[in-house]
Amino acid sequence: MRILSGIQPSGEPHLGNYFGAMRQHVAWQEKGEAIYFLADYHSMTTIRDAEARRRFTRELALDYLAIGLDPEHAILYRQSDLPELCELAWVLSTVTPMGLLERAHSYKDKVAQGAAVSHGLFAYPVLMAADILIYNADVVPVGQDQKQHLEMTRDIAGAFNHAYGVEVFQLPEPHILEEVAVVPGSDGRKMSKSYGNTIRMFAPEKEVKKAVMGIVTDSTPVEAPKDVATPLFQLWTLFAAPAEREALFARAQAGGLGYGEVKKDLLRRLLEHFGPYRERRAQWAARPDDVEDVLRRGVGRAREIARPTLAAARDAAGLGPAP
Ligand code: TRP
Repeated sequence: MRILSGIQPSGEPHLGNYFGAMRQHVAWQEKGEAIYFLADYHSMTTIRDAEARRRFTRELALDYLAIGLDPEHAILYRQSDLPELCELAWVLSTVTPMGLLERAHSYKDKVAQGAAVSHGLFAYPVLMAADILIYNADVVPVGQDQKQHLEMTRDIAGAFNHAYGVEVFQLPEPHILEEVAVVPGSDGRKMSKSYGNTIRMFAPEKEVKKAVMGIVTDSTPVEAPKDVATPLFQLWTLFAAPAEREALFARAQAGGLGYGEVKKDLLRRLLEHFGPYRERRAQWAARPDDVEDVLRRGVGRAREIARPTLAAARDAAGLGPAP
């Protein structure tokens, strides 16, 4: 089974990214041939700062290596190291109906916000289809927000096969990552960089502490029972075993449990959970050449897998000399 997913480099990851996708990507590497890439081409639709893109891309590689992506096992590469994707995106764009792209939520939302949209943003789903179809990936684990993009990939694959009368591309199965848990931000809204309510697990410990201590709570006195359907308890639960949760929730409902105690315990658990990852991250960060080496070997292996599909697509479309 071939598993593929791309991640946009957009700055330091937070608990929402980790519990929502990153951790699950690492788990999938056990289930088959996993291919993950740092989607720096895609980031061009939102980031225009070259230096920031390089930094974010490098940091994202470190984040994945830190949390346990095993480069001996899974393939990790930087999208722009495989420019063949742009060729395939062009080929696919010629069979992609405008109407399909015009229906994309991500594009429509930007237009509705009155943003000046680029052609790259409009064509984003075509490049994403190329990312997936170039490997004939079986499973694509993504968040719910990417579901429509995957349906478009299936449509685009079908359109190409139909246009040239050859089954070059296999239709991938979306695997929508379950919301493993609610990950609220420190203000109770969904944790998101754009709300400024994130807890960034690899930030300096002082900052992590500040973010945890800043989680909103109400003014219920210590003795009073506490509502556990609140951000502090939901975040704490991410780091606790079911039995521990039962015990703490019972104490909360009985009264006598202060928010300060829960915050301190959450901070301790969080730092403990990410401690080994933090260490591994620092080790990789100290060896930038080795990280580059991982990416170079990654793209080499990716290219080997991609080559036959790309050749078949070119041949089916009548590009280049006859084989
Ligand atoms: N659009 C995806 C996101 O923002 C990233 C992505 C790009 C991707 N290409 C992909 C995901 C191919 C899965 C497969 O999350």
